[in-house]
Amino acid sequence: MGTGNATPEQKVIVVDFGAQYGQLIARRVRDLHVYSEIVPCDITAAEVVELNPAAIILSGGPASVYAEDAPSIDPEILGLGIPVLGFCYGQQAMAVALGGAVGHTEKGEYGAALITRAGESELLDGTPGQQTVWMSHRDAVSRVPEGFVVTSRTETCPVASMEYPERNLYATQFHPEVRHTEFGQTMLRNFLFEVCGLTPDWTMDSIIDDSVAAIRETVGDDRVILGLSGGVDSSVVAALCARAIGKQLTCVFVNHGLLRKGEPEEVEEVFTHQFDVDFIHVHAEKRYLELLAGVTDPEEKRRIIGTQFWKEFFAVAQELADDGRPVQFLAQGTIYPDIIESGARKTGGKASTIKSHHNLIPFPDGVSFELIEPLDHFFKDEVRALGTALGLPDYIVHRQPFPGPGLAIRIIGDVTEEKLEMLKNADAIVREELDAYNERLYQETGERNSEHSVWQYFAVLPDIKSVGVMGDERTYQRPIILRAVESSDAMTADWAKLPYDVLARVSGRIVAEVPGINRVVYDITSKPPSTIEWE
Ligand code: XMP
Repeated sequence: MGTGNATPEQKVIVVDFGAQYGQLIARRVRDLHVYSEIVPCDITAAEVVELNPAAIILSGGPASVYAEDAPSIDPEILGLGIPVLGFCYGQQAMAVALGGAVGHTEKGEYGAALITRAGESELLDGTPGQQTVWMSHRDAVSRVPEGFVVTSRTETCPVASMEYPERNLYATQFHPEVRHTEFGQTMLRNFLFEVCGLTPDWTMDSIIDDSVAAIRETVGDDRVILGLSGGVDSSVVAALCARAIGKQLTCVFVNHGLLRKGEPEEVEEVFTHQFDVDFIHVHAEKRYLELLAGVTDPEEKRRIIGTQFWKEFFAVAQELADDGRPVQFLAQGTIYPDIIESGARKTGGKASTIKSHHNLIPFPDGVSFELIEPLDHFFKDEVRALGTALGLPDYIVHRQPFPGPGLAIRIIGDVTEEKLEMLKNADAIVREELDAYNERLYQETGERNSEHSVWQYFAVLPDIKSVGVMGDERTYQRPIILRAVESSDAMTADWAKLPYDVLARVSGRIVAEVPGINRVVYDITSKPPSTIEWE
């Protein structure tokens, strides 16, 4: 955990036996207003005691419990008296640790399965005798450990769930965290509120109050500097710090001239009129254009833009120090997935987090800050909810992902002022039309992220020209490439199957309204094999 943040006393830890499983469980627990944190599966009983959780959930995982190097759970953890709930691999690991047995089932179970309840169960209380659950396993518990009772089974799986209420141990072969498990949230509720006696008090209000108090305590009377990019994360940190420490915060907005049309003005408007912070708008547009002149290599563009950002940023910090108002803290918009994915945190250890993130920032000689990372235990959708609760406008909170190097990597070839102008204008049309299309889908489906919502959409300006005809005139101008994808995490993406009328309007408007463009093409490749961006 970084500094400047608050985690509640009452928490659930999710022992992760396989990457993505733990995140989903942690999110489901948080949906029920109980704070939860992910820990690696080699956590020891002593480390658990130190974290002092109110409950432990063991996630699923891809391994087979008897495989060489298969992860296991320290049996001592199961004897601490803290309630434990295991899912899938978690159930098997619990069974093996306590002297039960796991075997191969004749045929695995993948997808929806019907369980039949057997006897009383605290975990399944209030759910029907027969119900649909989501299974994904080949192995299963074949003999429950002493003291456990079987509470449900399927035709294939003799122990679909088991429990030992006197010792507060519960487990399921199926996945209650998956939406397809009809009564999954009821089971989680039973565990958290009935078995563990937790209270659902991790709410937006309490999160804001705790975060504000933690920032105040860390910062005291000192000053904080923050690099504002216009993105969601840095904006939410700014809004939170504004609430906590007001003018002790200086937001430095380095305008590299590579943001989308209207964005610099929006950022300035929000952080000068809506929030009472010290806002410094660094107009670095010309310097960036000079540095980027003639540069065509995408990685070189990224390097120049990144390096220059810190130069501009530290120049401001230096000026503040020269005024006799030195800044002690640097606030960063690091979020929980950054931490989980970088493996930076083991069991909430402070030092490892700070160090790994320091490494990312090329502090010049003689410059040092203490980091505060108030968002480092929040998932992206929680960060957005926090932003909304703090009063940030939707165009910041629901902003689509946008690369740090901005439009420079959407102009193929060298970046010039003229090309930037064309791209900004074309991109504004793409956003306007596809925002409207997403809104239409929302009206029809009632879902913000329906199956066909477009996740990221933008224009790309390639380094070629083609012949066209406008009026009676032959033209020789640039095309715009429209990129629009469906995705949930940017790791994979599919090109959006946009209706023809939407495509026609985007194309028609761009050639009519953007001077220098005479053709529009649509990128119909998925990721992989392509990437979302062109550079
Ligand atoms: P790709 O192009 O790799 O992009 O499929 C995946 C996601 O990452 C964003 N992206 C970047 N974000 N700096 C960033 O902050 C970058 O250099 C960068 N390159 C790509 C991209 O917009 C997409 O959402």
